[in-house]
Amino acid sequence: MKFSQPILCKQCSLANWENVMFRRGLKVSVVGAAGGIGQPLSLLLKQNPLIKTLSLYDITSTRGVAADLSHICSDCHVCSFEGAGQMKASLVGADVVVVAAGLPRKPGMTRDQLLDANASVAASVAKAISDACPGALLAFITNPVNTIVPIVAEILKSEDAYDPKRLFGVTTLDVVRAKTFLSDSLGVEPQDVNVPVIGGHAGTTILPIISQCNPKFEGSDEEREQLVHRIQEAGTEVVKAKAGKGSATLSMAFAGAHFVNSLLRGINGEELVIECAYVESDVSEADYFSTPLLLGPKGIEENLGLPDLDEIEEAALEKLIPVLKKNIHTGVEYAQAII
Ligand code: NAD
Ligand code: LMR
Repeated sequence: MKFSQPILCKQCSLANWENVMFRRGLKVSVVGAAGGIGQPLSLLLKQNPLIKTLSLYDITSTRGVAADLSHICSDCHVCSFEGAGQMKASLVGADVVVVAAGLPRKPGMTRDQLLDANASVAASVAKAISDACPGALLAFITNPVNTIVPIVAEILKSEDAYDPKRLFGVTTLDVVRAKTFLSDSLGVEPQDVNVPVIGGHAGTTILPIISQCNPKFEGSDEEREQLVHRIQEAGTEVVKAKAGKGSATLSMAFAGAHFVNSLLRGINGEELVIECAYVESDVSEADYFSTPLLLGPKGIEENLGLPDLDEIEEAALEKLIPVLKKNIHTGVEYAQAII
């Protein structure tokens, strides 16, 4: 189909002759786009050939980020939205919304201590999504992921816009770290390591299933324990190293861009796209749980369930369930109080 006139993006504050051409393809909206994660994540997404429109939203400073990114010579139109009044407009027509809005940790804090600040942010984003793009796939990065996802689910349910197959808590960074740390002891490239990481995204709720690692992990029990501990505490390692200037941003941007790409590949009908993510689940006693998921055009095609676990992993799973259930209960209670 040919168009004699270019179609203008009415909402875009950067409209010019470079970015007004008619485009087909997928649209991704980034919420929190001017933040520590949001900026490098948007940079990586701008280079993704599956994305034709990248919509950037933040409460402040989005315009400059979008202007900067819009000069990159990739076939992806960048739109900018700033201030609470523009949130809904930023989400209209999105195939995927990725949310990296909210406070990061400082040294000495737990992720749970972010709840007071970040729950209302996530709830307001969920409300806007239910109006603007109820069919989009939703990837929440905001911490504490274990509690934020149930909050978002409850808000979406109250707006009649909840589809459990479309809502994901992003735990990809745990898998990225597991691959990286394991690659050293396995003596292979990180990208050649396959290892599921299940459970949630905080401390001992992060459970790397080393027994199912491919190539096989042959180290001692002590080495394995140290590896598991490092993966579980890797976020804190970064928070300490940044010494008050936030938490993981660059590795999270890498992980987030990878996860969004997998969602898009699923939307495009590619086969065998599998990622771990924290979703509503019946594989354990916790109502939300991360396991490997087969992705498809409508989000989760199939939850691939718990991998085989050895005795050590069974024991760790038993221990993490009550923690996760408490995190989830907190989220459901918070949401029900504000609905
Ligand atoms: P940051 O402070 O650098 O950026 C957050 C951005 O969110 C800011 O630009 C801020 O203006 C914006 N924001 C705040 N309220 C908003 C709202 N209502 N609507 C839109 N934007 C809003 O923080 P960061 O380092 O980018 O981290 C963001 C979140 O991601 C934190 O909660 C952090 O803990 C979490 N995180 C999660 C993972 C994970 O693995 N899931 C990894 C790293 C960080
Ligand atoms: C991470 O794992 O790096 C994130 O959850 C950020 C944090 O607070 O550790």
